[in-house]
Amino acid sequence: MPEKTSQKRILVINGPNLNMLGRREPHIYGHQSLEEIDGQLMKLGKKLGIEVETFQSNHEGLIVDRIQQAMGNCHGIVINPAAYTHTSVAIRDALAMLEIPVIEIHLSNIHKRESFRHQSMIADIVAARIAGFGSHGYMLALEGLAKML
Ligand code: DQA
Repeated sequence: MPEKTSQKRILVINGPNLNMLGRREPHIYGHQSLEEIDGQLMKLGKKLGIEVETFQSNHEGLIVDRIQQAMGNCHGIVINPAAYTHTSVAIRDALAMLEIPVIEIHLSNIHKRESFRHQSMIADIVAARIAGFGSHGYMLALEGLAKML
């Protein structure tokens, strides 16, 4: 666990295909790019007095590596594991190792979609979940997490 007095540091992780936001099925995921969302998160972080770091990967192992690196130097995580939400025991196991709050976020309401999206491998180990608010969900997640810290 990082020092209590230091500035709070939050890591925002995005999984596969989220680098294509804005161009990827905009009727489901909206028109904003990930760069734009990351920029808004940084701005909000400044307002909240929180250091925000962002990471995106299309590769499961790289996401696991990044979660492991967060151990001991992050105060909280916001994660949209994207398709890995529904399949990845490895990402679940990595998150379960952490003793910091994790917020699960999805742009779309996964429960309103195909049945294979209804299952989340991390739902029962996260502190809170947000789904269906589009890109605004990331801001809600950051604000909620900031309140928890
Ligand atoms: C998603 C929902 C997942 O089912 C999908 O595979 C994604 C994005 C969302 O943000 O709505 O890639 O996590």
